[in-house]
Amino acid sequence: MDKIPVIIDCDPGLDDALMLMLAHGSGRFDIRAVTISAGKQTQAKTLQNALKILTLIGATDIPVHHGAEKPLLRDLVVSNDVHGESGLDGPSLPIPEMQAQPVSAVEGIASILSASETPITIAATGPLTNIATFLLAYPQLKSKIERISLMGGGIFRGNMTPLAEFNIYTDPEAAAIVFRAGVPITMCGLDVTHKALVFQKDIDLFRALGNQAGQVAADLMDFFSIFYRENRVELNGGAAMHDPCAIAWLMNPGIFTTKSCYVDVETKGELTSGATVVDFYNTLHKEPNATVAYDIDRDAFLDMLFNAIKALP
Ligand code: BDR
Ligand code: CA
Repeated sequence: MDKIPVIIDCDPGLDDALMLMLAHGSGRFDIRAVTISAGKQTQAKTLQNALKILTLIGATDIPVHHGAEKPLLRDLVVSNDVHGESGLDGPSLPIPEMQAQPVSAVEGIASILSASETPITIAATGPLTNIATFLLAYPQLKSKIERISLMGGGIFRGNMTPLAEFNIYTDPEAAAIVFRAGVPITMCGLDVTHKALVFQKDIDLFRALGNQAGQVAADLMDFFSIFYRENRVELNGGAAMHDPCAIAWLMNPGIFTTKSCYVDVETKGELTSGATVVDFYNTLHKEPNATVAYDIDRDAFLDMLFNAIKALP
């Protein structure tokens, strides 16, 4: 099977780290670059975290590009809940054996797309600042994007406010630019990621793999679970594997339940700023601009994650 050429934009991030393990370990992707967004932690920290994870999983040949320091119009508000002070608390990680490229995420994406004869997929699992900046700076390269598969938003729920999910809430103006760009989008929001759960018995299986990546994956999941067990009791001890969903959909969309919907982003609402407004029942009769995932075969998803991590050092 041909590998899927992909650029991954992320803000590691515990579940971003697991997403990188899935992408690399699956062997299904030709990862042309990893570009870094600032999210719950600063650009400096998320960049270091990406370099550490790529070193751990033996992917030091993948070019890494630093990205925007802050959202397009707003201040970056870092927080230490969920992912900890480093953005990747929990496991012990190697010192990076690689360095970031001298050129920025936007320039990196532009040169990869310009040089490619075939369109390239973008997987995005952080705030969409880099992708929006790229789309504004290089509209002529839009046709070189096969699709953007992103983790963000929600049809019926939020996690930063009642209706806004973190990645969209952090930079809603960027998200609005991306959803309005006319590029095919897959949206894996909280509706589906809160069904992509790992429980303690699953975490134990990752640890029992015996390789370094399995140990680190289990440690990341353990740390992530602390927040979920305290703050998302409705998930019955499960921790949501948000970011790996954006990669899993590219590997096998058949394990997801999706609907084509028109999606826009609220940038001003007093109560709803940063919410994805998903026209699930097509009340507006607008052309759908996104494939919105809202359910997943959890066992098949876990198998994917398990097999990928098993294949890593
Ligand atoms: C998203 O926010 C971050 O905490 C996660 O890495 C994920 O991308 C979930 O709302
Ligand atoms: Ca993330």
